[in-house]
Amino acid sequence: MRIHTCAPAVRRADISGIAYGFMASQALFAALEIGLFSHLAAGSRTVAELTGVSGVAPNRLRTLLNALVGLGLVVADGRRGYANAPASDRYLVRGAPGDFGEYFRLQIAQQIYPALLHLGSGLQGTGSAFGTFTDLLSRPYEARIFTSAQHAGSLTAARALAGRVPMGQARTLLDVGGGSGAFAITLCTRNPRLRATVLDFPAVTDVAREYRDAAGLANRIGLLGGDAMHTPWPPDQDIVLMSYLLSAIGDGEIDVALAKAYTCLRPGGLLVVHDFMLDDNEAGPALAALWFLQYVAYRSDGVSFSGRSLAARLVDAGFAASESEALIPEITKVILARKAAA
Ligand SMILES: C[S@@+](CC[C@H](N)C(=O)[O-])C[C@H]1O[C@@H](n2cnc3c(N)ncnc32)[C@H](O)[C@@H]1O
Repeated sequence: MRIHTCAPAVRRADISGIAYGFMASQALFAALEIGLFSHLAAGSRTVAELTGVSGVAPNRLRTLLNALVGLGLVVADGRRGYANAPASDRYLVRGAPGDFGEYFRLQIAQQIYPALLHLGSGLQGTGSAFGTFTDLLSRPYEARIFTSAQHAGSLTAARALAGRVPMGQARTLLDVGGGSGAFAITLCTRNPRLRATVLDFPAVTDVAREYRDAAGLANRIGLLGGDAMHTPWPPDQDIVLMSYLLSAIGDGEIDVALAKAYTCLRPGGLLVVHDFMLDDNEAGPALAALWFLQYVAYRSDGVSFSGRSLAARLVDAGFAASESEALIPEITKVILARKAAA
């Protein structure tokens, strides 16, 4: 059932695990929707107790619990009770340090999952789930769900990236497609002299404002609402960050974004690209490849890229690019691309 990197399928069960994977996804989403993992945060509970706190009838709850036990997300304690598996405790309990359940519950379950029903027509070029991010994220309700979910999903990656970026004397950062500001907030918190600008669609920066203000960074993080392809980017940046932007835009737009980054960076400035990237031989990882595939459901002009092919595009745009390095194992990588000093 779990997604492994590119091991050739040998058994019929290997195929079944993929075909039925959608049931496993829905079991996880349904459990998140009723707060099941949070209800188990304090320890093992019986079906009757869980019915009491969730309002779900015992027969149906038991069926869900059996599925979750089968998936390894919940364990039966042998005394008619159920408890969280270690990873569920760590990552799916509301408020736990590693909690990113809201990312799955909101963005993956409510937006990406239904969008993928359009993969077939997207592949044929005969239809799409919606008209690109510009369409989806211009709607305030969708922008709020997407962005608050992304915040939960990006905080861990932001902390990891903060340890990788050579900040030097950097004072200014432009976070293009910056979403909730998870990265800008994390970098500004760690680097007291840094000021940042988050550029994203207006309905998204409206949400970012709330995270920024809650972090007490209103005086150091500016918000620029607009389409990054058409909005002028503020000049003299020490660092430009693009996290999950290049995978989300069209092939031609990637060149526009790289050219705009080059122009707005001061000489010697740094472009940091964090995104889904294939290995250089393009044979996986499976999850990175699947993330590129899901974009086919809602835009016809997207492309997949490996660390090597993206680095080549960065060099074509004038940068000296590093090799890619993994950030979220099996999913994302980082490339540091330097504009030559004057
Ligand atoms: C997957 S989210 C990542 C958000 C953030 N960078 C992070 O890593 O948490 C991609 C972001 O790119 C933004 N985006 C995509 N195309 C854009 C465009 N043309 N102009 C501005 N923002 C864009 C989306 O609105 C969204 O917030």
